[in-house]
Amino acid sequence: MQLWTGRFQKALDKKTNDFNSSIPFDQRMYKEDITGSIAHARMLGKQGIIPAAEADVIIEGLQGILADIQSGALPIDPEAEDIHTFVEGELTRRVGDAGKRLHTARSRNDQVALDDRLYLRGRVDELREQLKELIGVLADKAAQYKDAVMPGYTHLQRAQPITFGHHLLAYAEMFFRDLDRLADCRRRMNISPLGSGALAGTTYPLDREMVAKELGMEGITHNSLDGVSDRDFCMELAADLSIVMVHLSRFAEEVILWCSFEFRFVELDDAFSTGSSIMPQKKNPDIAELVRGKAGRVFGDLTTLLAAMKGLPLAYNKDMQEDKEAVFDALDTVTMCLTAFTPMLDTMTVKPENMRAAAAGGFINATDCADFLVGKGLPFRDAYKAVGQLVARCIQLGETLESLPMEEYKKVCDLFDEGVYKAISLEKCVGDRTVVGGPAPQCVAEEVRRVRQLLESL
Ligand code: ARG
Repeated sequence: MQLWTGRFQKALDKKTNDFNSSIPFDQRMYKEDITGSIAHARMLGKQGIIPAAEADVIIEGLQGILADIQSGALPIDPEAEDIHTFVEGELTRRVGDAGKRLHTARSRNDQVALDDRLYLRGRVDELREQLKELIGVLADKAAQYKDAVMPGYTHLQRAQPITFGHHLLAYAEMFFRDLDRLADCRRRMNISPLGSGALAGTTYPLDREMVAKELGMEGITHNSLDGVSDRDFCMELAADLSIVMVHLSRFAEEVILWCSFEFRFVELDDAFSTGSSIMPQKKNPDIAELVRGKAGRVFGDLTTLLAAMKGLPLAYNKDMQEDKEAVFDALDTVTMCLTAFTPMLDTMTVKPENMRAAAAGGFINATDCADFLVGKGLPFRDAYKAVGQLVARCIQLGETLESLPMEEYKKVCDLFDEGVYKAISLEKCVGDRTVVGGPAPQCVAEEVRRVRQLLESL
């Protein structure tokens, strides 16, 4: 059944109906559609736009529909044009003429804009909880491995010693920014467009604030054209989700490297890795790879939204129906990724001894060795050069800076003395990096406290 009978002599062509219809993907907004309609009906009744008794009948009817959809007693008709049509049609079937008054002073254009906002708001809240859970896992692991020395990398070359706890907390920072971005996006999303009508508002004396308040929204839109044609909140959410995926994907990439036989920094739990059908020795980080792979899909969703909106004249255009599949897919994808990624991290075995061995092998204390000479009064640039010569000598002799004999040190610079061995020990190199935000175990412990406090406060 179409809502727009009257002008038309024929039903919509069957296959075209499928093309036109959004019910396969907008039915997930049934609860928000009904809650929005209840708030609208209550306001119509209070304002005397429809008889108060009829508003009550509508509200009761809508509550019944909601309960029946939730219980499964009322299946959603796949032939309906969209969820709005379905709910209104069902209401009229149940309560008769009163149902036909629900759409007074409203259009599907402001209705769908409202439903989008309400539905996405709920999903953002759920997603923020998932991100908080992930940060909690990172904080626990960081606390556990605050002393685990590992090589820090630049250009994927061993650079300077850090701690595994510190490395993990870098991701906690990224996910905190994601939380903040999502909260910001939610704030802009959480205003009511109802009252915008099809595009030009309405002549009825609506109480728009009342509706917004009942729906827990922070305010109302202030231009009826913009009210129905704004999908910034979808694009913004997809952009925020894309950034979440960038973070997850970088993390996934590192987990994949760490699992490799070349690194062996971590081992994934059997429950979160897979085998090969032919190579019996394989244990593959499929979950991490999928997370990395799915990032592109979310970026694609963002592009879909941007492209759908960029050429649209004001106000509503049917192109905008395309907002839902893209933004829902982005949300579903990120949610799925987090559902697998967080327990994968939580259950992985960390191998601090392998991290330490890698840290011991790559001259990552060379900067500290130079700093030792700086401590003896040599300008840093000269110290840098001296240590460069030492490293070359070590490579020649197959030694490390720790094992190189003092006479070799002296040949390069006579400011060296036995004290250098202590100065370049990995524990000291990392332990002295106590600048705020640094990798020293005490800093990691401090940041874990901060992270946990912040999580509590959100
Ligand atoms: N299914 C439509 C959408 O998702 C609802 C709004 C339809 N409005 C209209 N005038 N055709 O955008």
